[in-house]
Amino acid sequence: MKVLVYGAQIAKMFFGELLNILDENEVGYDLVEPNGVEALAEDSKDHEAVITFFPLREAEINALADSVKGVVVTSIGYDNIDVAAANKRGIMVCNIPDYCTEEVALHSVTLILASLRNLCLYDRTIREGKWKTRSMVCGRPHHRLSTMTMGFMGFGRIGQKVAQMMAGFGVKFIAYDPYLPESVFTSMNVERAETPDDVYAKSDILSVYMLLNDETYHLIGKDSIAKMKDDVIIVNTARGALFDLESVTEGLKSGKIGAAGIDVWENEPVPVDHPILKDDNAIVTPHCAYFSIEANLDLRKKSLMTAVNLCKGEVPYNCVNKKALGLA
Ligand SMILES: NC(=O)c1ccc[n+]([C@@H]2O[C@H](COP(=O)([O-])OP(=O)(O)OC[C@H]3O[C@@H](n4cnc5c(N)ncnc54)[C@H](O)[C@@H]3O)[C@@H](O)[C@H]2O)c1
Repeated sequence: MKVLVYGAQIAKMFFGELLNILDENEVGYDLVEPNGVEALAEDSKDHEAVITFFPLREAEINALADSVKGVVVTSIGYDNIDVAAANKRGIMVCNIPDYCTEEVALHSVTLILASLRNLCLYDRTIREGKWKTRSMVCGRPHHRLSTMTMGFMGFGRIGQKVAQMMAGFGVKFIAYDPYLPESVFTSMNVERAETPDDVYAKSDILSVYMLLNDETYHLIGKDSIAKMKDDVIIVNTARGALFDLESVTEGLKSGKIGAAGIDVWENEPVPVDHPILKDDNAIVTPHCAYFSIEANLDLRKKSLMTAVNLCKGEVPYNCVNKKALGLA
């Protein structure tokens, strides 16, 4: 049993001594740099799995030896793999979808709580030598969290983890995710929204946890914001382009949106002169929600263990094209 690691230099830095995990599981490995499809065809002979740090487009997928059962990307996103080509060849494509679920959920909760309590504004004001002023305490009213409703757009891994974390605060939940079974909502005491408008109408805090695609691009924009409650708090730790940033900035300026907590940006880094950065009710972070030492370790271990599973002829839980290959 052998794994081909496609991207030798990066792999040495990324995995370091963790490559021992392969030895411990009696799986051999070869580290190679990309050197054209012919080299890949030769290098992948007698390997059951490929861990890749480089794109595998149709040509590379087609070049893989027949021994290859699956490929592993060391990230959540797998847009650098031609899954359709992999489907045609019966090759499993695996990502690491859950290495930072807890971190991103906690970051969301942090943005929500910091927004509710005007945390960053208080911090800045003290540092400016101003202490608190009456207008600051009363400016953007604080409300009791246990009187509020939190809305989720998308209720997958991260959304559900956020609900678990927020449950202790006594806040009510409503979620829109048409792709989930009823049991997910009932087991977590979450009202199931039939339409996005239900979530917009009922939420005091609204957070997005869906993937970015044509359907969800600029989901939170002028029209959806108009349907929200006044003074709503909105949070995005998912993908930048789920927010139309200009509409969000305008909503903050007009006071329709009470506060916005944003970790992800359509254009990263967000330009330092963007007007949203001048708004006291925007709390911003630089796409760092995923990070922790433990998440980073988890990512590397899970990547290697997925390759081990493939070598052993198993169907890893994180195979994204299971259904297409008739393995689900
Ligand atoms: N900020 C970060 O560092 C960071 C790190 C990891 C993941 N993320 C992002 O967080 C988001 C959520 O990740 P996850 O692990 O919970 O993903 P997930 O796949 O577990 O959940 C996504 C949910 O969205 C639902 N969904 C899809 N289209 C929808 C639609 N049109 N309307 C309503 N629901 C829809 C799906 O049914 C699914 O339940 C993703 O966008 C991911 O890229 C961000």
